[in-house]
Amino acid sequence: MTQPKKLFIKTYGCQMNVYDSERMAEAMGGQGYVQTDRPEDADMILLNTCHIREKAAEKVYSELGRYKGLKSDRPDLKIGVAGCVAQAEGEEIMRRQPLVDLVVGPQSYHRLPDLMARTSNGAKALDTDFPEEDKFEHLKSRPKAKRGPTAFLTVQEGCDKFCAFCVVPYTRGAEVSRPADRVLDEARDLVERGVREITLLGQNVNGYHGHEKGLAGLIRELAKIDGLARIRFTTSHPNDMDDDLIAAHGDCDKLMPYLHLPVQAGSDKILKRMNRQHTAEQYLRLIERLRAARPDLHMSGDFIVGFPEETEEDFQGTLDLIAAVEYGSAFSFKYSERPGTPAAERPQVPEAEKDDRLQRLQALLTRQQRALQDAMVGRELGVLFEKPGRMPGQMVGKSDYLHAVHVAAEGLVPGDLRRVRIVESGPNSLKGVLA
Ligand code: 5AD
Ligand code: SF4
Repeated sequence: MTQPKKLFIKTYGCQMNVYDSERMAEAMGGQGYVQTDRPEDADMILLNTCHIREKAAEKVYSELGRYKGLKSDRPDLKIGVAGCVAQAEGEEIMRRQPLVDLVVGPQSYHRLPDLMARTSNGAKALDTDFPEEDKFEHLKSRPKAKRGPTAFLTVQEGCDKFCAFCVVPYTRGAEVSRPADRVLDEARDLVERGVREITLLGQNVNGYHGHEKGLAGLIRELAKIDGLARIRFTTSHPNDMDDDLIAAHGDCDKLMPYLHLPVQAGSDKILKRMNRQHTAEQYLRLIERLRAARPDLHMSGDFIVGFPEETEEDFQGTLDLIAAVEYGSAFSFKYSERPGTPAAERPQVPEAEKDDRLQRLQALLTRQQRALQDAMVGRELGVLFEKPGRMPGQMVGKSDYLHAVHVAAEGLVPGDLRRVRIVESGPNSLKGVLA
Protein backbone atom coordinates (compact mmCIF):
# COMPACT_ATOMS: atom_id res chain seq x y z
CA MET A 1 0.00 0.00 0.00
CA THR A 2 1.34 3.46 -0.81
CA GLN A 3 1.61 5.89 2.06
CA PRO A 4 -0.62 8.98 1.75
CA LYS A 5 1.28 12.18 1.11
CA LYS A 6 1.46 14.60 3.98
CA LEU A 7 0.58 18.27 4.03
CA PHE A 8 1.69 20.74 6.70
CA ILE A 9 -0.17 24.06 6.76
CA LYS A 10 0.83 26.98 8.96
CA THR A 11 -1.78 29.69 9.25
CA TYR A 12 -1.08 33.33 10.09
CA GLY A 13 -3.43 36.25 10.64
CA CYS A 14 -7.18 36.40 10.78
CA GLN A 15 -9.99 33.86 11.06
CA MET A 16 -10.59 34.10 7.33
CA ASN A 17 -7.20 32.50 6.85
CA VAL A 18 -8.16 29.72 9.28
CA TYR A 19 -11.23 29.00 7.15
CA ASP A 20 -9.19 29.15 3.91
CA SER A 21 -6.57 26.76 5.32
CA GLU A 22 -9.31 24.22 6.09
CA ARG A 23 -10.61 24.52 2.55
CA MET A 24 -7.12 24.15 1.03
CA ALA A 25 -6.52 21.05 3.16
CA GLU A 26 -9.76 19.63 1.78
CA ALA A 27 -8.79 20.49 -1.81
CA MET A 28 -5.46 18.70 -1.34
CA GLY A 29 -7.27 15.87 0.46
CA GLY A 30 -8.90 15.17 -2.89
CA GLN A 31 -5.35 14.59 -4.23
CA GLY A 32 -4.57 12.05 -1.50
CA TYR A 33 -2.89 14.39 0.97
CA VAL A 34 -3.49 14.04 4.72
CA GLN A 35 -2.60 16.79 7.18
CA THR A 36 0.34 16.58 9.56
CA ASP A 37 1.36 18.95 12.32
CA ARG A 38 5.06 18.21 11.81
CA PRO A 39 6.78 20.07 8.95
CA GLU A 40 9.65 17.54 9.02
CA ASP A 41 7.20 14.76 7.98
CA ALA A 42 5.56 16.75 5.21
CA ASP A 43 5.68 16.28 1.43
CA MET A 44 4.20 19.72 1.07
CA ILE A 45 4.50 22.76 3.32
CA LEU A 46 2.05 25.58 2.83
CA LEU A 47 2.23 28.91 4.64
CA ASN A 48 -1.08 30.77 4.62
CA THR A 49 0.14 34.28 5.22
CA CYS A 50 -0.94 37.68 6.53
CA HIS A 51 0.25 41.03 5.19
CA ILE A 52 -1.65 43.38 7.47
CA ARG A 53 1.36 44.59 9.46
CA GLU A 54 5.05 44.55 8.60
CA LYS A 55 5.89 42.05 11.35
CA ALA A 56 3.34 39.56 10.03
CA ALA A 57 4.95 39.59 6.57
CA GLU A 58 8.52 39.35 7.92
CA LYS A 59 7.59 36.30 9.99
CA VAL A 60 6.84 34.44 6.77
CA TYR A 61 10.35 34.96 5.41
CA SER A 62 11.98 33.88 8.64
CA GLU A 63 9.78 30.76 8.74
CA LEU A 64 10.73 29.95 5.13
CA GLY A 65 14.41 30.28 6.05
CA ARG A 66 13.92 27.54 8.64
CA TYR A 67 12.89 25.05 5.95
CA LYS A 68 16.23 25.26 4.09
CA GLY A 69 17.61 22.15 5.80
CA LEU A 70 14.45 20.13 5.12
CA LYS A 71 14.46 21.06 1.46
CA SER A 72 18.12 20.17 0.95
CA ASP A 73 17.57 16.77 2.65
CA ARG A 74 14.47 16.09 0.53
CA PRO A 75 14.45 17.93 -2.79
CA ASP A 76 10.96 16.46 -3.52
CA LEU A 77 9.47 18.53 -0.70
CA LYS A 78 7.20 21.24 -2.14
CA ILE A 79 6.92 24.59 -0.41
CA GLY A 80 4.07 26.96 -1.14
CA VAL A 81 3.10 30.44 0.01
CA ALA A 82 -0.61 31.32 0.05
CA GLY A 83 -2.61 34.23 1.44
CA CYS A 84 -2.11 37.97 1.45
CA VAL A 85 1.72 38.05 1.30
CA ALA A 86 1.43 35.81 -1.78
CA GLN A 87 -1.06 38.24 -3.31
CA ALA A 88 0.97 41.34 -2.46
CA GLU A 89 4.45 40.14 -3.33
CA GLY A 90 3.83 37.50 -6.01
CA GLU A 91 6.98 36.45 -7.86
CA GLU A 92 9.14 38.55 -5.54
CA ILE A 93 8.74 35.79 -2.93
CA MET A 94 10.48 33.22 -5.15
CA ARG A 95 13.23 35.71 -5.93
CA ARG A 96 13.81 36.46 -2.26
CA GLN A 97 13.46 32.83 -1.17
CA PRO A 98 14.29 30.43 -4.05
CA LEU A 99 13.18 27.34 -2.11
CA VAL A 100 9.54 28.37 -2.67
CA ASP A 101 7.92 26.24 -5.40
CA LEU A 102 4.52 27.87 -5.64
CA VAL A 103 2.74 31.08 -4.78
CA VAL A 104 -1.04 31.22 -4.69
CA GLY A 105 -3.27 34.22 -3.91
CA PRO A 106 -6.42 34.02 -1.76
CA GLN A 107 -8.79 33.96 -4.73
CA SER A 108 -7.10 31.02 -6.48
CA TYR A 109 -7.11 28.26 -3.86
CA HIS A 110 -9.32 26.00 -5.93
CA ARG A 111 -6.46 25.89 -8.45
CA LEU A 112 -3.99 24.60 -5.84
CA PRO A 113 -3.99 20.95 -7.03
CA ASP A 114 -3.23 22.10 -10.62
CA LEU A 115 -0.50 24.40 -9.41
CA MET A 116 1.04 21.55 -7.42
CA ALA A 117 1.00 19.33 -10.51
CA ARG A 118 2.84 22.04 -12.41
CA THR A 119 5.71 21.94 -9.91
CA SER A 120 6.28 18.17 -10.31
CA ASN A 121 9.24 18.58 -12.69
CA GLY A 122 10.89 21.23 -10.57
CA ALA A 123 9.15 24.17 -12.26
CA LYS A 124 7.75 27.11 -10.25
CA ALA A 125 4.06 27.98 -10.26
CA LEU A 126 2.35 31.30 -9.54
CA ASP A 127 -1.32 32.29 -9.49
CA THR A 128 -2.41 35.60 -8.01
CA ASP A 129 -5.39 36.19 -10.32
CA PHE A 130 -8.81 37.35 -9.25
CA PRO A 131 -10.61 34.71 -11.37
CA GLU A 132 -14.22 34.95 -12.57
CA GLU A 133 -15.16 31.50 -11.28
CA ASP A 134 -16.36 31.06 -7.70
CA LYS A 135 -13.59 29.44 -5.64
CA PHE A 136 -16.10 28.40 -2.97
CA GLU A 137 -18.10 26.33 -5.47
CA HIS A 138 -14.92 24.61 -6.62
CA LEU A 139 -13.94 23.92 -3.04
CA LYS A 140 -17.40 22.69 -2.13
CA SER A 141 -16.73 19.04 -1.47
CA ARG A 142 -16.02 19.16 2.24
CA PRO A 143 -15.65 15.52 3.28
CA LYS A 144 -18.61 14.38 5.42
CA ALA A 145 -16.39 13.92 8.45
CA LYS A 146 -17.67 14.82 11.91
CA ARG A 147 -16.78 18.34 13.06
CA GLY A 148 -16.25 20.07 16.39
CA PRO A 149 -19.06 22.22 17.82
CA THR A 150 -17.86 25.54 16.33
CA ALA A 151 -17.03 26.51 12.76
CA PHE A 152 -16.12 29.54 10.67
CA LEU A 153 -17.99 30.17 7.45
CA THR A 154 -16.74 32.83 5.02
CA VAL A 155 -19.67 34.69 3.42
CA GLN A 156 -17.98 37.84 2.14
CA GLU A 157 -14.51 38.78 1.01
CA GLY A 158 -12.68 41.91 0.06
CA CYS A 159 -13.02 45.54 1.03
CA ASP A 160 -13.97 48.77 -0.76
CA LYS A 161 -13.37 51.04 2.22
CA PHE A 162 -9.72 51.95 1.64
CA CYS A 163 -8.80 52.97 5.17
CA ALA A 164 -5.57 54.94 4.68
CA PHE A 165 -3.44 52.45 6.65
CA CYS A 166 -4.73 49.15 5.29
CA VAL A 167 -3.54 46.73 2.60
CA VAL A 168 -6.69 44.59 2.54
CA PRO A 169 -8.40 46.37 -0.39
CA TYR A 170 -5.24 45.68 -2.43
CA THR A 171 -4.60 42.08 -1.33
CA ARG A 172 -8.18 40.81 -1.10
CA GLY A 173 -9.74 42.97 -3.81
CA ALA A 174 -13.24 44.44 -4.08
CA GLU A 175 -16.14 43.36 -1.84
CA VAL A 176 -17.81 40.16 -3.02
CA SER A 177 -20.64 38.32 -1.24
CA ARG A 178 -21.52 34.65 -1.60
CA PRO A 179 -25.15 33.97 -2.53
CA ALA A 180 -27.31 33.19 0.53
CA ASP A 181 -28.54 29.80 -0.76
CA ARG A 182 -24.96 28.52 -1.02
CA VAL A 183 -24.09 29.81 2.43
CA LEU A 184 -27.22 28.17 3.85
CA ASP A 185 -26.36 24.84 2.18
CA GLU A 186 -22.90 24.95 3.66
CA ALA A 187 -24.31 25.83 7.09
CA ARG A 188 -26.80 22.92 6.98
CA ASP A 189 -23.97 20.59 6.05
CA LEU A 190 -21.87 21.84 8.97
CA VAL A 191 -24.77 21.35 11.38
CA GLU A 192 -25.36 17.79 10.12
CA ARG A 193 -21.74 17.13 10.99
CA GLY A 194 -22.04 18.31 14.58
CA VAL A 195 -21.51 22.08 14.41
CA ARG A 196 -23.67 24.07 16.85
CA GLU A 197 -22.15 27.52 16.51
CA ILE A 198 -21.25 29.27 13.25
CA THR A 199 -19.21 32.45 12.98
CA LEU A 200 -19.86 34.20 9.69
CA LEU A 201 -16.68 35.74 8.33
CA GLY A 202 -15.90 38.61 6.02
CA GLN A 203 -13.49 41.52 5.85
CA ASN A 204 -16.63 43.67 5.90
CA VAL A 205 -19.13 41.02 6.85
CA ASN A 206 -21.93 43.47 7.66
CA GLY A 207 -21.62 44.83 4.12
CA TYR A 208 -22.86 41.38 2.99
CA HIS A 209 -25.33 41.65 0.12
CA GLY A 210 -25.77 38.01 -0.96
CA HIS A 211 -29.27 38.12 0.59
CA GLU A 212 -31.83 40.77 -0.43
CA LYS A 213 -32.08 41.81 3.23
CA GLY A 214 -28.32 41.89 3.77
CA LEU A 215 -26.53 40.21 6.65
CA ALA A 216 -29.60 40.45 8.92
CA GLY A 217 -31.61 38.56 6.27
CA LEU A 218 -28.97 35.84 6.13
CA ILE A 219 -28.79 35.58 9.93
CA ARG A 220 -32.58 35.22 10.20
CA GLU A 221 -32.50 32.39 7.61
CA LEU A 222 -29.65 30.67 9.43
CA ALA A 223 -31.55 30.95 12.70
CA LYS A 224 -34.24 28.66 11.21
CA ILE A 225 -31.78 25.75 10.95
CA ASP A 226 -32.65 23.19 13.63
CA GLY A 227 -29.61 22.15 15.63
CA LEU A 228 -27.74 25.40 15.00
CA ALA A 229 -27.71 27.06 18.41
CA ARG A 230 -25.51 30.11 18.04
CA ILE A 231 -24.59 32.62 15.35
CA ARG A 232 -21.78 35.18 15.45
CA PHE A 233 -20.20 37.38 12.79
CA THR A 234 -16.96 39.28 12.31
CA THR A 235 -15.51 41.78 11.20
CA SER A 236 -17.83 44.73 10.81
CA HIS A 237 -17.53 48.35 9.73
CA PRO A 238 -19.61 50.95 11.65
CA ASN A 239 -20.99 52.45 8.42
CA ASP A 240 -22.49 49.13 7.28
CA MET A 241 -24.44 48.51 10.49
CA ASP A 242 -28.00 48.90 9.16
CA ASP A 243 -31.28 49.16 11.12
CA ASP A 244 -32.27 45.55 10.54
CA LEU A 245 -28.93 44.23 11.76
CA ILE A 246 -29.20 46.39 14.88
CA ALA A 247 -32.73 45.04 15.44
CA ALA A 248 -31.53 41.44 14.96
CA HIS A 249 -29.36 41.84 18.06
CA GLY A 250 -32.56 42.30 20.03
CA ASP A 251 -34.95 39.88 18.38
CA CYS A 252 -32.84 36.97 17.12
CA ASP A 253 -32.17 34.66 20.07
CA LYS A 254 -29.47 32.71 18.29
CA LEU A 255 -27.41 35.81 17.55
CA MET A 256 -24.94 36.07 20.42
CA PRO A 257 -24.58 39.28 22.48
CA TYR A 258 -21.02 40.03 21.38
CA LEU A 259 -20.04 42.40 18.60
CA HIS A 260 -16.63 43.13 17.13
CA LEU A 261 -16.92 46.64 15.73
CA PRO A 262 -13.52 48.24 15.11
CA VAL A 263 -13.24 52.02 15.45
CA GLN A 264 -9.41 52.31 15.27
CA ALA A 265 -9.18 55.76 16.90
CA GLY A 266 -11.19 58.27 18.90
CA SER A 267 -10.06 61.61 17.46
CA ASP A 268 -12.10 63.00 14.58
CA LYS A 269 -8.97 64.43 12.98
CA ILE A 270 -7.33 60.99 12.93
CA LEU A 271 -10.53 59.22 11.88
CA LYS A 272 -10.74 61.60 8.92
CA ARG A 273 -7.10 61.02 7.97
CA MET A 274 -7.70 57.29 8.30
CA ASN A 275 -10.56 57.71 5.79
CA ARG A 276 -12.94 55.94 8.18
CA GLN A 277 -15.90 58.07 6.98
CA HIS A 278 -17.43 58.47 10.43
CA THR A 279 -16.82 60.50 13.60
CA ALA A 280 -16.26 59.30 17.16
CA GLU A 281 -19.69 60.65 18.09
CA GLN A 282 -21.39 58.66 15.30
CA TYR A 283 -19.69 55.49 16.53
CA LEU A 284 -20.83 56.14 20.11
CA ARG A 285 -24.44 56.83 18.96
CA LEU A 286 -24.38 53.58 17.00
CA ILE A 287 -23.36 51.64 20.10
CA GLU A 288 -26.15 53.33 22.04
CA ARG A 289 -28.65 52.06 19.46
CA LEU A 290 -27.16 48.56 19.56
CA ARG A 291 -27.36 48.53 23.35
CA ALA A 292 -30.93 49.78 23.22
CA ALA A 293 -31.70 46.64 21.16
CA ARG A 294 -29.55 44.37 23.34
CA PRO A 295 -28.59 45.96 26.68
CA ASP A 296 -26.03 43.31 27.66
CA LEU A 297 -24.15 43.49 24.35
CA HIS A 298 -20.39 43.02 24.85
CA MET A 299 -18.38 45.24 22.56
CA SER A 300 -15.05 44.36 21.01
CA GLY A 301 -12.85 46.58 18.87
CA ASP A 302 -9.57 47.15 17.05
CA PHE A 303 -7.34 50.14 17.81
CA ILE A 304 -4.30 51.62 16.13
CA VAL A 305 -1.98 53.88 18.11
CA GLY A 306 0.63 56.15 16.57
CA PHE A 307 -1.10 56.66 13.25
CA PRO A 308 0.85 59.34 11.28
CA GLU A 309 0.47 62.80 12.85
CA GLU A 310 -1.39 61.47 15.91
CA THR A 311 -0.71 63.91 18.79
CA GLU A 312 -0.99 63.21 22.50
CA GLU A 313 -4.32 65.04 22.42
CA ASP A 314 -5.59 62.83 19.57
CA PHE A 315 -4.51 59.77 21.52
CA GLN A 316 -6.38 61.08 24.55
CA GLY A 317 -9.48 61.10 22.32
CA THR A 318 -9.03 57.35 21.80
CA LEU A 319 -8.72 56.77 25.56
CA ASP A 320 -11.89 58.85 26.12
CA LEU A 321 -13.81 56.84 23.54
CA ILE A 322 -12.69 53.58 25.15
CA ALA A 323 -13.75 54.89 28.57
CA ALA A 324 -17.20 55.72 27.15
CA VAL A 325 -17.76 52.34 25.45
CA GLU A 326 -16.40 49.86 28.03
CA TYR A 327 -15.08 47.05 25.89
CA GLY A 328 -15.46 43.38 26.77
CA SER A 329 -12.48 42.54 24.56
CA ALA A 330 -10.17 44.37 22.15
CA PHE A 331 -7.20 44.11 19.83
CA SER A 332 -4.70 46.95 19.68
CA PHE A 333 -1.74 47.60 17.44
CA LYS A 334 1.03 50.08 16.84
CA TYR A 335 0.62 51.68 13.43
CA SER A 336 2.73 49.78 10.91
CA GLU A 337 3.79 51.48 7.69
CA ARG A 338 2.50 49.57 4.66
CA PRO A 339 4.12 50.58 1.36
CA GLY A 340 1.57 51.66 -1.23
CA THR A 341 -1.03 52.86 1.30
CA PRO A 342 -1.65 56.64 1.66
CA ALA A 343 -0.72 56.79 5.36
CA ALA A 344 2.79 55.49 4.64
CA GLU A 345 3.52 58.82 2.91
CA ARG A 346 2.62 60.93 5.98
CA PRO A 347 4.96 62.10 8.79
CA GLN A 348 5.44 59.18 11.17
CA VAL A 349 5.15 59.10 14.96
CA PRO A 350 8.41 58.03 16.70
CA GLU A 351 8.51 54.35 17.72
CA ALA A 352 9.07 55.15 21.42
CA GLU A 353 5.91 57.29 21.40
CA LYS A 354 3.93 54.43 19.81
CA ASP A 355 5.24 52.00 22.44
CA ASP A 356 4.23 54.32 25.26
CA ARG A 357 0.73 54.90 23.86
CA LEU A 358 0.16 51.20 23.24
CA GLN A 359 1.06 50.42 26.84
CA ARG A 360 -1.33 53.04 28.21
CA LEU A 361 -4.13 51.96 25.86
CA GLN A 362 -3.72 48.29 26.70
CA ALA A 363 -3.67 49.02 30.44
CA LEU A 364 -7.07 50.71 30.13
CA LEU A 365 -8.52 47.98 27.90
CA THR A 366 -7.27 45.24 30.22
CA ARG A 367 -8.90 46.95 33.22
CA GLN A 368 -12.22 47.18 31.34
CA GLN A 369 -12.10 43.61 30.12
CA ARG A 370 -11.31 42.32 33.57
CA ALA A 371 -14.09 44.37 35.18
CA LEU A 372 -16.68 43.03 32.73
CA GLN A 373 -15.41 39.49 33.18
CA ASP A 374 -15.44 39.77 36.97
CA ALA A 375 -19.02 41.04 36.80
CA MET A 376 -20.02 37.59 35.46
CA VAL A 377 -19.43 35.99 38.89
CA GLY A 378 -22.77 34.93 40.38
CA ARG A 379 -24.54 35.09 37.00
CA GLU A 380 -25.97 32.19 35.03
CA LEU A 381 -24.74 32.03 31.42
CA GLY A 382 -25.13 29.75 28.42
CA VAL A 383 -21.91 27.81 27.72
CA LEU A 384 -21.18 25.75 24.61
CA PHE A 385 -18.61 23.12 25.58
CA GLU A 386 -15.79 22.56 23.10
CA LYS A 387 -13.04 20.36 24.57
CA PRO A 388 -11.61 18.80 27.73
CA GLY A 389 -9.74 21.19 30.02
CA ARG A 390 -6.28 20.66 31.50
CA MET A 391 -7.62 19.33 34.81
CA PRO A 392 -9.09 15.81 34.82
CA GLY A 393 -12.90 15.79 34.50
CA GLN A 394 -12.95 19.40 33.35
CA MET A 395 -14.51 20.75 30.13
CA VAL A 396 -13.90 24.14 28.51
CA GLY A 397 -16.46 26.07 26.55
CA LYS A 398 -17.39 29.60 25.55
CA SER A 399 -20.01 31.78 27.17
CA ASP A 400 -22.53 33.76 25.12
CA TYR A 401 -20.11 36.69 25.55
CA LEU A 402 -17.17 34.59 24.31
CA HIS A 403 -15.44 34.16 27.67
CA ALA A 404 -13.64 30.85 28.14
CA VAL A 405 -15.46 28.95 30.92
CA HIS A 406 -14.11 25.90 32.81
CA VAL A 407 -16.55 23.47 34.41
CA ALA A 408 -15.81 20.19 36.21
CA ALA A 409 -18.82 17.88 35.81
CA GLU A 410 -19.55 14.24 34.99
CA GLY A 411 -20.72 13.34 31.53
CA LEU A 412 -20.21 16.65 29.70
CA VAL A 413 -19.22 16.21 26.05
CA PRO A 414 -18.13 18.66 23.34
CA GLY A 415 -21.24 20.17 21.75
CA ASP A 416 -23.25 20.31 24.99
CA LEU A 417 -24.89 23.68 25.50
CA ARG A 418 -25.69 24.16 29.19
CA ARG A 419 -26.59 26.83 31.70
CA VAL A 420 -23.64 27.50 33.99
CA ARG A 421 -23.42 29.53 37.19
CA ILE A 422 -20.15 31.46 37.29
CA VAL A 423 -18.28 31.08 40.58
CA GLU A 424 -14.82 32.52 39.88
CA SER A 425 -13.04 34.91 37.51
CA GLY A 426 -9.37 34.19 36.72
CA PRO A 427 -6.84 36.10 34.57
CA ASN A 428 -8.08 34.71 31.24
CA SER A 429 -11.14 32.63 31.96
CA LEU A 430 -14.11 31.96 34.20
CA LYS A 431 -14.90 28.96 36.35
CA GLY A 432 -18.47 27.73 36.79
CA VAL A 433 -20.79 24.94 37.92
CA LEU A 434 -23.74 23.49 36.03
CA ALA A 435 -26.89 25.40 36.97
N1 5AD B 1 -0.92 49.07 11.11
C1 5AD B 1 -1.43 48.66 12.29
N2 5AD B 1 -2.60 48.01 12.40
C2 5AD B 1 -3.28 47.77 11.26
N3 5AD B 1 -4.46 47.16 11.04
C3 5AD B 1 -4.71 47.16 9.73
N4 5AD B 1 -3.72 47.77 9.06
C4 5AD B 1 -2.81 48.16 10.01
C5 5AD B 1 -1.57 48.86 9.95
N5 5AD B 1 -1.06 49.28 8.79
C6 5AD B 1 -5.30 46.65 12.13
C7 5AD B 1 -6.65 47.37 12.19
C8 5AD B 1 -7.59 46.33 11.66
C9 5AD B 1 -6.93 45.05 12.14
C10 5AD B 1 -7.38 43.82 11.45
O1 5AD B 1 -5.57 45.28 11.92
O2 5AD B 1 -6.94 47.68 13.53
O3 5AD B 1 -8.92 46.47 12.16
FE1 SF4 C 1 -8.87 47.45 6.05
FE2 SF4 C 1 -10.56 49.48 6.58
FE3 SF4 C 1 -11.28 47.55 4.86
FE4 SF4 C 1 -11.11 46.99 7.48
S1 SF4 C 1 -12.55 48.46 6.51
S2 SF4 C 1 -10.30 45.74 5.77
S3 SF4 C 1 -9.37 48.27 8.11
S4 SF4 C 1 -9.62 49.02 4.56
